[in-house]
Amino acid sequence: MTRLTIRRPDDWHVHLRDGAALQSLVPHTAARFARALVMPNLKPPLTTAAQTLAYRERILAALPEGALFRPLMTLYLTDQTPPDEIERAHASGVILGCKLYPAGATTHSDAGVTDLGRLDATLARMSELGMVLQVHGEVTDPDVDIFEREARFIERVLEPLIARFPRLKVVFEHVTSHIGVEFVRSARTGVAATITPQHLLLDRNAMFQGGLRPHLYCLPVLKRESDRRALLEAATAGDARFFLGTDSAPHARHTKEAACGCAGIFSAHAGIELYAEAFDAAGALARLQGFASEAGADFYGLPRNEDTLTLVREPWSVPATVPLGAGELVPLRAGERLAWRLVGR
Ligand code: NCD
Ligand code: ZN
Ligand code: ZN
Repeated sequence: MTRLTIRRPDDWHVHLRDGAALQSLVPHTAARFARALVMPNLKPPLTTAAQTLAYRERILAALPEGALFRPLMTLYLTDQTPPDEIERAHASGVILGCKLYPAGATTHSDAGVTDLGRLDATLARMSELGMVLQVHGEVTDPDVDIFEREARFIERVLEPLIARFPRLKVVFEHVTSHIGVEFVRSARTGVAATITPQHLLLDRNAMFQGGLRPHLYCLPVLKRESDRRALLEAATAGDARFFLGTDSAPHARHTKEAACGCAGIFSAHAGIELYAEAFDAAGALARLQGFASEAGADFYGLPRNEDTLTLVREPWSVPATVPLGAGELVPLRAGERLAWRLVGR
């Protein structure tokens, strides 16, 4: 196959940041995806419906002329999020749920949740209204090995949570391990997961290939080759519990090439092309549409997109850097070739 036309995809997990950065980031996502679920981990975090809707207006204002892209939002859950805020978010029609960041687990998560036990009324309201809980699934206990944080989170937090709220819809964001895959496969209905391109294409060795590679550091951190294979199998099996979420997470170059570098990999410049490469390598291009354009919309109860997107097998070189506001970032596969190119609508 040298040409692939699929139903237009959606990105169910992306970071678009704010201010000058926002302007430079939106076009990458809007060129590929009809919709995206935009993460609320700004500084300060988007903890109210009003803040979230104001941010959504800034995203719309940053759209290139004629773009049909529709941003969808999620509220940043804190220990104090009241049930009424869920009510207001739901009434907006464009805020689809709440994002659970365990406090301290990842970039801009310090205002996140320290004790889910205090949020029973809020989670119950979410469950009643069909609002989706998107979860960064890692424990923050410093005694837990960084490669085990996802597995411990599942046992300690997620399994009890989905048992306590049997109708709450949950997306296990950026699943990275075979244990995570097994958990989602065997979970009750209403539990799904997103998978990033980097976790499908790379294992942890890539972070140390020939030296330290800060641009391949993200959270949850890349895992073993056996985990990567389990993720690729899950993504390409036609299982609707797994769908596309790039977790494209831009950070300025100097904040990653630093003594203490930020976590996050930028992939929006090739947000569908990278998945095409992974599916192609697995001999599963025919399953890309289900993963990228159907399973997520179905899970969220939204209509599938009617327009299409076309890719051709025609190698191109990823630029060494991409503008980020007044600065720059280093994108995934910088300076390397990608096999699939976007030819547009
Ligand atoms: C994300 C970011 O930079 O906002 N970083 C990352 O490594 N994935 C936060 C997140 O999604 O956990
Ligand atoms: Zn995360
Ligand atoms: Zn993310």
